[in-house]
Amino acid sequence: MGGVILGTGSALPRRVVTNKELEKIVDTSDEWIRARTGIKQRHISSEGEYTYVLASRAAEKALEMAGMAAAEIDLLVVATISSHMLMPSSACFVQREIGANKAFAYDINAACSGFLYGLDMADHYIRADSSKKILVIGAETLSGRLNWDDRNTCILFGDGAGAAVVGASDNTARGMVGSNHFSDGSLWNLLYMHTAESCNSEIKVEDWCGAHIVMEGKEVFKHAVKAMEDAVRGLLAKTGTDLADVTMVVPHQANVRILNNLMERLELSKEKVFINAPLYGNTSAASIPIALDEANRNGRIKEGDLVLFCAFGGGFTWGASLIKW
Ligand code: UT7
Repeated sequence: MGGVILGTGSALPRRVVTNKELEKIVDTSDEWIRARTGIKQRHISSEGEYTYVLASRAAEKALEMAGMAAAEIDLLVVATISSHMLMPSSACFVQREIGANKAFAYDINAACSGFLYGLDMADHYIRADSSKKILVIGAETLSGRLNWDDRNTCILFGDGAGAAVVGASDNTARGMVGSNHFSDGSLWNLLYMHTAESCNSEIKVEDWCGAHIVMEGKEVFKHAVKAMEDAVRGLLAKTGTDLADVTMVVPHQANVRILNNLMERLELSKEKVFINAPLYGNTSAASIPIALDEANRNGRIKEGDLVLFCAFGGGFTWGASLIKW
């Protein structure tokens, strides 16, 4: 019996920053950002709204929906590339915040694909022991990991967190149908976080301005669309699924232009694809669980629906997963 999502939750920082506000701090325009990315605004963390704080709020909502206490959780995983500290992990901070005292806890570093990697891992745990209850969270405060003078990157990202409680169900028809995940470390330098000049002799010291994302946007765009298309097609073939039978697609919300390209290539109708990137920007590992929670709470997903996920991020990491809700 595979993993079933028993509850979802999400949390966003209070402060909303519009494209117009970005015009004041970097050489950009609302028109350019909307035309190239479809993004209108993003949530940005204020003092105290750390990654683990948003993650904990999302986790509590997911637990509430699942009707489960934090103390019942066996494993707590946080996918993030913007942890409050490098050590301890965000997962350990979340454990402390919500009181998941029985759980063992650790982070996954797989950028925007982190939540899907986490779901896949949770599914395998549950297949090995159906009594296990697992919290998979994607959470980011990338606003603290950007070079705010770099208009190529700073306009794209936002902060937030989403969570899912994964467990087994008596209904064996429900749960993870399959997943198809990949990585390619040879392309690391197209999208990476410049963390410390001393860590890597290939990164120039003069670029240092605190940890920040560096990206070759055009190259990332091309790879992202092709990789997600291939991962989805591969997953459909592997699981013997017809795309026409998929009820809802919840993709990583990189930006609307990437998603439009993907929809074109897969010949997907707009109605089937959940898109909220205009409101939140790219929240990396948090984007899929935030979108999933919105779709779930808005009644867009019903029991028995086939829900398809796909993601692409730094590493490169990418993949697709299919769940019978
Ligand atoms: O999860 C994966 C994470 N990464 C992504 O999702 C990003 C993937 N990449 C993209 O979505 C696109 O490459 C971007 C949205 C980042 C950029 O769009 P683009 O069509 O590839 O633009 P570009 O980088 O080729 O830049 C075109 C022009 C350049 O000016 P010149 O050289 O033509 O004069 C840029 O300097 O636009 C300029 N530009 C901007 N102008 C106003 C770049 N950023 C901005 C900006 N505002 N924020």
